[in-house]
Amino acid sequence: MSAQPSVDAVTPPTPPDALPGARSAGGYRRNTSFRSRRSALSAAQQRTWARLWPDLGIVAASRHSADAPDEPLNAGARFGRDAPLVLEIGCGTGTSTLAMAQSEPGVDVIAVEVYRRGLAQLLSAIEREGVSNIRLVRGDAVDVLESLIAPGSLSGVRVFFPDPWPKARHRKRRLLQPATVALIADRLQAGGVLHAATDHPGYGEQIAEVGDAEPRLTRVDPAGPAGTGLPISVVRPTTKYEDKARHAGSAVTELLWQRRFEGRAS
Ligand SMILES: C[S@@+](CC[C@H](N)C(=O)[O-])C[C@H]1O[C@@H](n2cnc3c(N)ncnc32)[C@H](O)[C@@H]1O
Repeated sequence: MSAQPSVDAVTPPTPPDALPGARSAGGYRRNTSFRSRRSALSAAQQRTWARLWPDLGIVAASRHSADAPDEPLNAGARFGRDAPLVLEIGCGTGTSTLAMAQSEPGVDVIAVEVYRRGLAQLLSAIEREGVSNIRLVRGDAVDVLESLIAPGSLSGVRVFFPDPWPKARHRKRRLLQPATVALIADRLQAGGVLHAATDHPGYGEQIAEVGDAEPRLTRVDPAGPAGTGLPISVVRPTTKYEDKARHAGSAVTELLWQRRFEGRAS
C-alpha cells in the first residue's frame, strides 16, 4: 500500500474514489465542508450509473486544477431549454431535490453532492419517476459555484441541513461562511433566493448572521408578503435526516434571503 501524503489533523483521508482536484500535492488545498464517506455502489446502482450518468451527470473540477472548464456550464444545452435554474448544495440522497423538481416542472435543478452513493440513489429515483428537470454534479459545491456557474445566473440556491461541524475546532469547515455566501450572492440573479435549513442551533445563528451581513442579500419572511412573490418554491419536504433530527428533539431553523434588486432599498 502506498503511503498517504500528510494531511492536517482535521482533514479525513481521501476516499478511495476521490474527486479530481480534491487533493493537491502534499495534502488538501483547503478545509472541505464534507467528510469522507464509504461510497461503493451496489451492482444495480452501478448499472443505473453507467446508463444515466453520461447524460445527466457532470464531474466538477477545481478552478485551480488543470482539468477546470474554460467556461461555465451551458444550462440551456444541458436541459434542452431555458428555464429558471436552481442549485441544490449537498443534496444527500436527493429526497428534497426530487420532490421539489417534481412540484416545479418549469424549473431546472442542478443537484451537487460529493457522496457518490447519494447521487446514485437520486439517479435511480429520477429514472423511476420519469423526472426530466434534474442534472447532477459530483464535486465540491465551492468548486461548482466558482467554475461551473456564471454570475447572476441562478434563480435559487438551496442548502438543506449542511454538515454542522459542531466541535469548535472544526467550525472553519462549515460551508456557509462569509466567502461562500458572497459567492452564492454573486451567482444569484436579482430576486434570486438563498434558502437554507439546519437543525443545529449554533450553525443556524451563524448562517443568519452571515446571510444578514452579505450586502447583496435581504432577509425574507416566507410567511410575509415578500414570500409570495419569490421566483421559486420554498416548500420543502421532510427528509429522513430531518425526521431523525426532529425525533432527537432538535428544532429546525429555516432561513431565506433574496438577492437585492439593484438600486432598490429594502
Ligand atoms: C447532513 S447531509 C444533508 C443531506 C440533505 N440535504 C438532506 O437534507 O437530507 C449534508 C450533505 O452535504 C454534502 N456536502 C457537504 N459539503 C459539501 C460540498 N462542499 N459540496 C457538495 N456536497 C457537500 C455531504 O456529502 C452530505 O451528503
